[in-house]
Amino acid sequence: MITNTKYPFVSMTKMLADAKKGKYAVAHINTNNLEWTKAILTTAQETNTPIIIGLSEGAAKYQCGYKTVAAMTAAMIENLKITVPVVMHLDHGSYNACIEAIEAGFSSVMFDGSHEPFADNYKKVNDLLSIIGNRDISLEAEVGTIGGEEDGIVGNGELADPAECEKIAKLPITVLAAGIGNIHGLYPENWAGLNFEQLQKVSSVIGNIGVTLHGGTGIPDDQIKKAIELGVVKINVNTECQVAFQEATRKYVEEGKDLDTVKKGFDPRKLLKPGYEAIKAKILEKITLFGSINKA
Ligand code: 13P
Repeated sequence: MITNTKYPFVSMTKMLADAKKGKYAVAHINTNNLEWTKAILTTAQETNTPIIIGLSEGAAKYQCGYKTVAAMTAAMIENLKITVPVVMHLDHGSYNACIEAIEAGFSSVMFDGSHEPFADNYKKVNDLLSIIGNRDISLEAEVGTIGGEEDGIVGNGELADPAECEKIAKLPITVLAAGIGNIHGLYPENWAGLNFEQLQKVSSVIGNIGVTLHGGTGIPDDQIKKAIELGVVKINVNTECQVAFQEATRKYVEEGKDLDTVKKGFDPRKLLKPGYEAIKAKILEKITLFGSINKA
């Protein structure tokens, strides 16, 4: 196995196998900027927690591309003396984005072919596995779209077809994202909840690998715990951290702290600090719920 020597990232392979054995889930937190990545890294380090940093194509574009994010994150790991395992993962990538992220030094990619005919999805997953070859880079595949909208990719929230899950899981993928009634973003009032029967069916046909639960925002704690019991090993969270950041920043501004010229409340390092602390608190809440603290 050739490890990714360019940067100090690990793949999800061992991390998620350990989670499956230990019956907990690893948090995948989407990053949006430097403050986000710093909040993710420091919270993971302070709690001895393995962590997956997820980057969507849109967030990559915003942050000047995969190379910028990979290099910045690697430098931050060194500067902050982070010793817990960190996965640098592409979230919902197209085929070309997966290749670009791998070339930029990512240790993990998700190919989202869920909106394509299954045969095309399957073929592209297989092709990407050949491109990865014997490098220690993990691959997440998706079957059955996740509801809601994420960076322009809109899904109807179909349930994954267990036969397709079984077929794709025979390829050496690391983890499978399967639609089980989950939705990206905030859940509507009339959301039916996770479909545990579907999750059970999927888990029973995918062998040793686990399931990724996308749309981690706003799922009640008891449903998260049940999902982990039924084979979820990775839970993606983005919107909840964004809302936590927004609320804390709003409070700072509404209290007029940005207008304090004596304390230089306008300094972005001060203006963004409450939001940064709020992201950290939200991540701590999630990794506590997911059971991954002290599992580094
Ligand atoms: P939320 O924004 O709903 O937390 O979903 C995040 C996600 O699934 C990223 O892939």
